[in-house]
Amino acid sequence: MKESEHVKLNEAKWDKWAASIDGKGWRYVYLRKCQSGVVSLMDIKENMNFLDIGCGTGWALGQIAKIINGKGSFYGIDLSDKMIEKAKENFKDNENFHFIKSNAESIPINDNLFDAIICTNSFHHYLNPDKALKEMYRLLKTGGKIYILDPTADFMFIKIINLLVKLFGHEHVKLYSTKEFKKLITDAGLKYIKCDKIGMQQKVHIGEK
Ligand SMILES: C[S@@+](CC[C@H](N)C(=O)[O-])C[C@H]1O[C@@H](n2cnc3c(N)ncnc32)[C@H](O)[C@@H]1O
Repeated sequence: MKESEHVKLNEAKWDKWAASIDGKGWRYVYLRKCQSGVVSLMDIKENMNFLDIGCGTGWALGQIAKIINGKGSFYGIDLSDKMIEKAKENFKDNENFHFIKSNAESIPINDNLFDAIICTNSFHHYLNPDKALKEMYRLLKTGGKIYILDPTADFMFIKIINLLVKLFGHEHVKLYSTKEFKKLITDAGLKYIKCDKIGMQQKVHIGEK
């Protein structure tokens, strides 16, 4: 599939989701549980700079900010205009929150800015995961960390889900195994630290620059 076609499919899907993602349905419960799990694993300190790639409506950044009483800077990027609109609305009274419509593979932010980058339930939609990881490397300070959460294809169940989702959702690219995550992360120049399990089949893959 052409890159422009893939971007359009993703934009259309996530623009639709934006209306319900802050609601109380199963999507909300599932996504928030995953995001909370990632936040609980992070080294969060005052005055750090945080970036959420594929941030949706910005919920995880809000949770991080609560831990440090808003003392830090919080950036979110997302491909969907509607997600970014909602994120801006959700944090309109916070000067240190910045939301930018952007593809994870080319992010219009300066190098070496972030102490921590998170990416939850979004990575499997990137057509060029290597480019997204190179961007993470570029944007991290030395010693900064990435936390990528995705259903991880280490078990047959997730491998089957990967095939089924691909049949019905053409914007879906791939659910990676831990071995594949390790390679993608180290190929981008980052050190693969470890992975932690969250829920049944989701794993957070942690890397460091
Ligand atoms: C399932 S939602 C997850 C949103 C949020 N991270 C969460 O955990 O609730 C996936 C998000 O990834 C975004 N996304 C998909 N492909 C993207 C890309 N190439 N660059 C940036 N964001 C992308 C979508 O627009 C959507 O908001």
